[in-house]
Amino acid sequence: METERYEIGMIGLGVMGRNMLLNMADHGFPVAGYVKDPSKVEALRKEAAANDIKAVANVQELIGLLRRPRAVMMLVPAGPPVDSVIGDLLPHLEKGDLIIDAGNSYFKDTNLRVRNLTEHGIQFLGVGVSGGEEGARHGPSIMPGGPKEAYERVRPLLEAVAAKVNGDPCVAYLGPGSAGHFVKTVHNGIEYALMQLLAETYDLMKRGLGMSDDQLRDVYDTWNQRELNGYLIEITSRIFGKVDERTGKRLIDELLDVAKQNGTGMWTSQSAMELQVPIPTIDLAVAMRDMSVFEKQRETAGEIFQRPIPPFGGDRGIFVEQLGHALYAGMIITYAQGMAVLAAASDKYDYCLDLATVARIWRGGCIIRAALLEDIRQAYCHQPNLPNLLLAPELSTKVLANEKDLRRVVSAAIEMSLPAPCFMTALSYFDSYRSAWLPANLIQAQRDYFGAHSYECIDVKGTFHTDWTKS
Ligand code: 6PG
Repeated sequence: METERYEIGMIGLGVMGRNMLLNMADHGFPVAGYVKDPSKVEALRKEAAANDIKAVANVQELIGLLRRPRAVMMLVPAGPPVDSVIGDLLPHLEKGDLIIDAGNSYFKDTNLRVRNLTEHGIQFLGVGVSGGEEGARHGPSIMPGGPKEAYERVRPLLEAVAAKVNGDPCVAYLGPGSAGHFVKTVHNGIEYALMQLLAETYDLMKRGLGMSDDQLRDVYDTWNQRELNGYLIEITSRIFGKVDERTGKRLIDELLDVAKQNGTGMWTSQSAMELQVPIPTIDLAVAMRDMSVFEKQRETAGEIFQRPIPPFGGDRGIFVEQLGHALYAGMIITYAQGMAVLAAASDKYDYCLDLATVARIWRGGCIIRAALLEDIRQAYCHQPNLPNLLLAPELSTKVLANEKDLRRVVSAAIEMSLPAPCFMTALSYFDSYRSAWLPANLIQAQRDYFGAHSYECIDVKGTFHTDWTKS
């Protein structure tokens, strides 16, 4: 009997959805996929021949195939496509069925969907999935949020398909409502900042030191063997080695210097602003993608403000070493900012996030996986309510050990007039955060001067106002 025997239905068989489906089938789960495009149905049917996969081109048919209570996962672009799929599914579902949105949805949309679907008696899980095509196929990091009992239903499936670190699956229940999508959004914010930090190391070595693609490949590869070890560093090394089949040249040098985005980095910055948590390194990473898009203006401005990059005066080998150390400090400071947003969101939105668990499931499968995440996990295990990672002894000693080189890299960038905004903001964040005194008393005074906003004093409680113009 074909009907009502499939464990899960998948909607959205783009690369990610298709790979997730194949991953589930590899682990012995009978899965059914829905695709509108008949050519894709055919392709999937062929690919599925050896597995327990059924491909159909009709939503009703898909639902009829699923074991009750049903579970349907969608991997479609964020925004209206998610609501459109929900609209298509609803007439065919019944109370107790489960919809899983495994795309990069905005957490406030997820909250609305949870509310609407709960009214229909349908459970909804907002699940972040990271790891790109390869991860979806062979083991992503999975960040589920929603009703705990709904998670328990699909837990064996998610644990089976997730990446494993020492046999431990990179998936865990994170919290209610939009907790999973919020964590995934911040994951991507961190991703943006790490990518921009790496882009700045590239710029400093390429334009600053005049290094070749081969040399760059080797530097990133060496870094990846050390404490900097992580997926983004590994792929960066590979990127510099990649030859374009069309031209025979390095592909990296053929690419436009323009980086687009799907919005998750921007959402991280917007959410942090709303929560009033400073994450300047992530903000600048978003801003630098925006800046990259103004390529025509940059060209014009480059002509007006022409300035040859002064030759690097120091020892190149030593500078590359310092750059690696600065990158390590920058990475810690970036994770600290991301985790601080998660801590604030957890309080404000009642997610009850366990940050040690978040760090644990980010150690494998996802784009920001790095050796450092084990230190971060341990820091939160020792102090679950740590207000900021920079206060953890495990990490503060590492930042202190690399602080001098971070400073050296920032001043070298300034001397060479090369932009390094993420390194600069990482350093400024660190300098501000460890500053027991900040000049905010002047801001208080100015606000009170022009707007009578009142001020607070060091030694007396209460708020005060002064007529600053009275002599
Ligand atoms: C991941 C990635 C993935 C995707 C991002 C890229 O964790 O697997 O983050 O979600 O590649 O959407 O985001 P931008 O298109 O905004 O760079």
